[in-house]
Amino acid sequence: MTTRAGAAPLPGPSRPRQRPPLVRTVVLGLSRTRPVRHLVTRTGLFRPVVNRFIAGETPNDAVTAVADLHARGLLATVDLLGEATVSDVLARQAALGYHTILEALSRRGLHSHVSVKLSQLGLDLSLDTAETWLREIVAHAQTTPTFVRVDMEDSGRLVATQRVFDSVWDTGARNLGIALQAYFYRTPDDARRFAARGVSIRLCKGAYAEPQDLAYARKRDVDDAFVRLMDELLGSESHLAIATHDERLIDQAKAIAAARNVAIDRYEFQMLYGIRRDLQELLVRQGYRVRVYVPFGAQWYPYFMRRLAERPANVLFLARHLIRRSPRPKDG
Ligand code: FDA
Repeated sequence: MTTRAGAAPLPGPSRPRQRPPLVRTVVLGLSRTRPVRHLVTRTGLFRPVVNRFIAGETPNDAVTAVADLHARGLLATVDLLGEATVSDVLARQAALGYHTILEALSRRGLHSHVSVKLSQLGLDLSLDTAETWLREIVAHAQTTPTFVRVDMEDSGRLVATQRVFDSVWDTGARNLGIALQAYFYRTPDDARRFAARGVSIRLCKGAYAEPQDLAYARKRDVDDAFVRLMDELLGSESHLAIATHDERLIDQAKAIAAARNVAIDRYEFQMLYGIRRDLQELLVRQGYRVRVYVPFGAQWYPYFMRRLAERPANVLFLARHLIRRSPRPKDG
């Protein structure tokens, strides 16, 4: 059985010391503690805020969200929430969840993509486990037909994720693409390797707290790396999904695509459910393809905490919501 041995990415060349974003480090750190997990998942206090980022808990909720997006001219990729699966039974259950959503989308005649995290399919148990379930999902998706995007997780799973991806790609499956994170020093090499084989790439900034010997920490450095990668990939033959809500980067993407005369079906913008709906709709009105990442399912906690950690304003918003909900002290 193959294991995760050697899964950590190679360190990049030596870099100047940078300070990682404090809010991200603190929120992601706290999210791993039991009291915070309990407060967020068990009390119901956070529900209205959770509902902003998550489409619901059932396949029906996801299908309804996709239909609503389509009605507004937006495309979708559906993610059954879940990660870091700790048993074969749970990995199998996650795979079954994907079969269910593929069937539900197909029954409604909705052409959506799906996005999948390999740790949800058992990557932490063995590479073979994740590969088995990914192959099955991709084979089913071929029949509907649906495109399957493999999300990229933290640095400890990066090499393993790419290995499993490669094995399934090498079977000839072409309804398959991968996500790459601009913050890793190694990503330009990865991007070239995937683009040379015609793999569709989703480029995002990266959502995890990573060590400084592997990833840029400062926003400015991550953004610059994003632009360099976007520039190179828009000049390649592979399809590029530009996954960001950052208007400055989106404007740069538009400018590069226009200057290079890149056909409109060779790239698309992608954004997360509940974030910058105004910008999503504006881009559609301007004639661009925009795909919304639609997460659903009961295992929403880690995804939700990453969304909180991305933006200090979200933590303030949450604090204000909690203060409004707490009972006012009585006079006297
Ligand atoms: P940035 O964080 O600079 O935000 C730009 C602006 O967007 C903000 O000023 C704000 O207006 C808005 N915004 C961004 N995040 C927000 C939030 N949480 N709440 C409210 N507003 C927000 N990551 C990863 O590691 N692996 C993956 O596979 C994926 N997959 C993925 C798919 C898609 C479709 C998207 C859009 C993103 C991902 N990500 C991801 C997440 C990504 O790495 C990144 O963490 C977020 O997109 C936030 O970064 P931005 O590029 O939006 O820029």
